[in-house]
Amino acid sequence: MQNFDYKTPTRLIFGKGVVEKLPSVMAQFGKKILLTYGGGSIKKIGLYQKVLELLKGYEIVELSGIQPNPKYDPSVLDGVRLCKEHNIDVILAVGGGSVLDCSKAIAAGACYDGDPWDLISYKVKAQAALPIVDIITLAATGSEYDSGGVISRTETNDKIGYLDPLLYPHTSFLDPTYTFTVSKKQTAAGIADAMNHTMEQYFVEDATLLNDGFCESMLRSLMVNGRKCIENPEDYTARAEMMLACTYGCNRILSLGNSQSGWPCHGIEHALSAYYDITHGEGLAIITPRWMKHILNERTLPRFVKYGINVFGIDANLDKWEIANKAIEETYKFFESINIPMHLREVGIDDSRIGEMAHHIAVNEGLENAYAPLTEQDIVEILTASL
Ligand code: NZQ
Ligand code: ZN
Repeated sequence: MQNFDYKTPTRLIFGKGVVEKLPSVMAQFGKKILLTYGGGSIKKIGLYQKVLELLKGYEIVELSGIQPNPKYDPSVLDGVRLCKEHNIDVILAVGGGSVLDCSKAIAAGACYDGDPWDLISYKVKAQAALPIVDIITLAATGSEYDSGGVISRTETNDKIGYLDPLLYPHTSFLDPTYTFTVSKKQTAAGIADAMNHTMEQYFVEDATLLNDGFCESMLRSLMVNGRKCIENPEDYTARAEMMLACTYGCNRILSLGNSQSGWPCHGIEHALSAYYDITHGEGLAIITPRWMKHILNERTLPRFVKYGINVFGIDANLDKWEIANKAIEETYKFFESINIPMHLREVGIDDSRIGEMAHHIAVNEGLENAYAPLTEQDIVEILTASL
């Protein structure tokens, strides 16, 4: 087992109606709040009005219109400007992972005198960040329980995972009923995202029985409950379990003591959504089985065999290669069964920029050091197989 140093300072408040505790949480900070949200879903579900009601007496400045794959310009820059102009004390992010990620970058940028891109691109280490409280309305990223935000910069085709312990939310409110209105498409993308977060921590060199069990249980739970959420969007029990599973996905708790995988599917997908603005979870679902096929060899075989037996219940008496190949096929079939488009062409990506994207990934993502090292040529092959 590897050494580790771990702390997650975020308070999770989970369950039906927990938003009523918002005033007592916000009372710890000053009176000036930056309320961040996306394109309007929080208004449709009545959450926006509820928040304003609960926070009467506060000075609330709003930043709306944060898009999926949140953009540095204008959203992060506008948020930083508003924080500075209004001397904001705390950010309240209400929405999906994109709103929260954008808010994390704003929180750091608001406490920095230079260009916030210096922080996101790791040129400068942030010295402080505003506190963040969030009400998450979409189960997927786990941003509500991790220290990262993923920010896109359109003109350079960059999509950077910006991580800093300063960015952990102070408190995250998780009410599964707010996810009842998430579309089937976004629910499926959320399932794929959280499953891939788990796989990125499972397919490693050095793992423990403890973590393997945790990951396998995550994957089974996400498939069973995820499917129920799609079939019956108001199934509280399924939405609740999916929400909690997603929350565990990205804060390293599934892999403490494991060696690192290098998060190869995320490295590849972030370029796809940077270049083509596709939905993150869909990109991951397309890449994952092709990546699995590409890295299956004598060395990685035992991991795939374990995955096949413990996650999909494949007969352990079969030949090991057969188990591994069936496991990859089952992975593909599951994503297909929840109606995720399983080819890049279906999400508007052809072969014209594969070389350029593979080069970008090879230069920026360090995947030659991944659990199964990937060269630029390997990335070209995975992308081509995904077309
Ligand atoms: O903008 P609004 O109107 O709010 O609509 C959103 C958006 O169109 C909608 N939505 C959210 N909650 C809803 C809802 N619609 C109906 N009812 C609700 N309750 O869903 C759409 C997608 O929202 P978005 O926030 O983009 O989705 P998600 O939570 O999947 O976030 C994706 C982003 O997170 C990044 C991804 O790369 C992507 O940019 N990631 C962040 C991570 C992290 N911070 O740890 C890790 C992940 O690997 C991922 O990279
Ligand atoms: Zn992800």
